[in-house]
Parts: sequence; C-alpha cells; structure tokens
Amino acid sequence: MPLVALTSIAKEFKGSTVFENVDLAVGKGTTIAIKGKSGIGKSTLLNIVAGLEKTTSGQYMLDGEDLSQMNLNDLSDVRKRKIGYISQHSPMIPKLTALENIVVPLWFEKKRENSDNITKRIEQLSYLFEINHLLHHKIEKLSGGEIQRVGIIRSLIKEPRLLVADEPTGALDDETALIVLMCLNELKTGGVSVIIATHSAMVAKHCDEVYQLTKEGLIRETLSC
Ligand SMILES: Nc1ncnc2c1ncn2[C@@H]1O[C@H](COP(=O)(O)OP(=O)(O)OP(=O)(O)O)[C@@H](O)[C@H]1O
Ligand SMILES: [Mg+2]
Repeated sequence: MPLVALTSIAKEFKGSTVFENVDLAVGKGTTIAIKGKSGIGKSTLLNIVAGLEKTTSGQYMLDGEDLSQMNLNDLSDVRKRKIGYISQHSPMIPKLTALENIVVPLWFEKKRENSDNITKRIEQLSYLFEINHLLHHKIEKLSGGEIQRVGIIRSLIKEPRLLVADEPTGALDDETALIVLMCLNELKTGGVSVIIATHSAMVAKHCDEVYQLTKEGLIRETLSC
C-alpha cells in the first residue's frame, strides 16, 4: 500500500479551478519531484498533501487514514503525528541558536515528549546533515544552506512518515542546494517519503520520480540519463 494515495484530487478557489484529476501514489522511502510553471498550483497541491488545506473533491489517503474526510482539527492532529513541512525560507528567530530554533515548536506542545529522546534525535540528525558543530551558533551567523538544514531537522523531530518540501532549495546556489538535496535523499534510508515542489532540473534529477503538474492533472516524466 502506498504511503500517499491521491485519487482525482481537484482544488478550486472561489469557483475557479486550479487543477483537477490529480492522481498520485507515493511509496515508502520514495522521493518525488513536482514541477510546473509558476501559478499552476504546486504549493496548493503540497499544502493539501501537508494537511494544511482541504481538497475541493477527490480522495487523499495517508498511511491508511482518509484526510479528505477530516475537519481542520483532525488534519492538524495528523500533521503533528505524520507530516513534516519545509518551504523556501524556513522561518527562524535570528537571535536564537540553531538548537533553540529546532526546539521552539516543542515549547507550544501540550504533551511534552521525553527530552532525552529529542536530544538524541537532534544529535543524530545534525550529524547526518553535517551541522552538529553549528547547533550552538546563532542562526544569524549561519549560511542559507545551513539554515535550511536546521529547518529540515526541525521538521523531522517528530519522526514524520512524510516530508513535504515546497521549493526547499529555491533560495540556494547549486552547490548548497545539492547538499540540502543529499540530506533529503538520506531520509529514504529511514523510510521517509519526500515530496518536493521545484523549478530546478537538478533537484528533479535527484528524485526517484518526476511529475509535471498541469491544470488537467499530474503527468509522469520519464527520466533521461
Ligand atoms: N488562498 C488562496 N485563495 C485564492 N487563490 C489562491 C490561494 N492560494 C493560491 N491561489 C491561486 O492558486 C493558483 C496556484 O497558486 P500556487 O501558489 O499553488 O502556484 P505555484 O505553482 O506554487 O506557483 P509558484 O511556482 O510561483 O510558487 C494561483 O493562481 C494562486 O493565485
Ligand atoms: Mg509555489
């Protein structure tokens, strides 16, 4: 069973259709790139997949749960349990350290997690993404790529099954983008599925499957080596 299954998803804003007939199946540990011209609806689609927005019609199954039937409260609960989200600019508090920025969202949680587990996980991820030496540095002193990696770690703290990334390398140069991309690819080994919206051919080249979003649906691209 795929982790994510979208069937005939459509989205309208005030009666105007952004896209329709979107079908997508994402396997465990698969990275997916979604391309498409500006304004076609990539962010809208990713917001739906991330549980931030509702579909107008169609079915969205995530890990056996039907998100298309849920209200916004239940969606928020699924999001906390199963989904990580990062965007082009991860919002950060400049005067706080990388570590503090990673744990800020946890301050607002009603149910506190075991802090030893959290510390261990941050340690593992920061080694994996090679920013372990920067955890106690203030965010304002870090480079764009380093900040983006802090954002990825923050989105992974709750061990999501799915990571949704909206142009995560859009503000980065090619070399730094590649480092971030390699980090995202590392997640496959842990079985995390990743869906990335991107304009970059380089990003798409590093994903397992590439789709083009059109008003009439998602079209799979065949990869040429
Ligand atoms: N909340 C909203 N209310 C009304 N229209 C919206 C809303 N969000 C997005 N849209 C419209 O939906 C369309 C798709 O926008 P979206 O941001 O998803 O495109 P995109 O493919 O991500 O573009 P880009 O590549 O520039 O990021 C646009 O026409 C946009 O104006
Ligand atoms: Mg967008």
